Amino acid sequence: MSVLETVGRKFARLATNAVVRRPALWRVFRGALRRQFDALAGSWEQILAANPRHLDALKQALDEIGPPPQRVLDLGTGTGAAAIAVARMFPDAEVVGADLAPAMIDEARRKAPPELADRLRFEVADAARLPYEDGEFELVSLANMIPFFDELARVVAPGGFVLSTFSRGAQTPIYVPFETIRRELGARGFGQFAEFTAGDATSLLARKTPDP
Ligand SMILES: C[S@@+](CC[C@H](N)C(=O)[O-])C[C@H]1O[C@@H](n2cnc3c(N)ncnc32)[C@H](O)[C@@H]1O
Repeated sequence: MSVLETVGRKFARLATNAVVRRPALWRVFRGALRRQFDALAGSWEQILAANPRHLDALKQALDEIGPPPQRVLDLGTGTGAAAIAVARMFPDAEVVGADLAPAMIDEARRKAPPELADRLRFEVADAARLPYEDGEFELVSLANMIPFFDELARVVAPGGFVLSTFSRGAQTPIYVPFETIRRELGARGFGQFAEFTAGDATSLLARKTPDP
């Protein structure tokens, strides 16, 4: 790994820790993180190829979700790997992949499988301030992505799910301990949690309490 890559990973971890502790700090990190991931967009697929099992724990959790979601948001979608996996798992779902970095979204659109074109779309959006309605999604997935808990809780429908995965567990540069995610989502109306491990990858599935 080059010195630049090492610095980039350390910066991503620093930003993640700071923003999870104090979401207001996002405005300090936003521009630099966007530039970092714009610069990585062209080589992101090669980075993913080095870990072919990176989505295994996410797929295990998807198997547990029912009834199948109709509207899904993949946040911090990058080049869209998790969004594509979710769209394939749920053939009736409309899936949106959203990312802060326009170059990532360009790559995601370029490599999107044509057979998913009518129900998978990619948009530039900031997870800290989402352009979606309250309760718009039955599932929000995050692969190696900083969780913005207030917005997550807002856009997930009652009875819906948040699914967070880290492709190299605690070694992933953008990583948040599951006890933190449980605590933060638990304080925002999520009541059921399940964890999955597959190789190095880990995932946490959280369900928002349904309306009475
Ligand atoms: C480590 S990459 C993961 C990409 C993809 N999910 C994957 O696992 O291949 C993190 C992604 O999150 C995006 N990101 C970071 N902060 C974001 C935010 N506030 N809103 C939307 N996307 C964000 C970055 O631009 C980057 O594409």
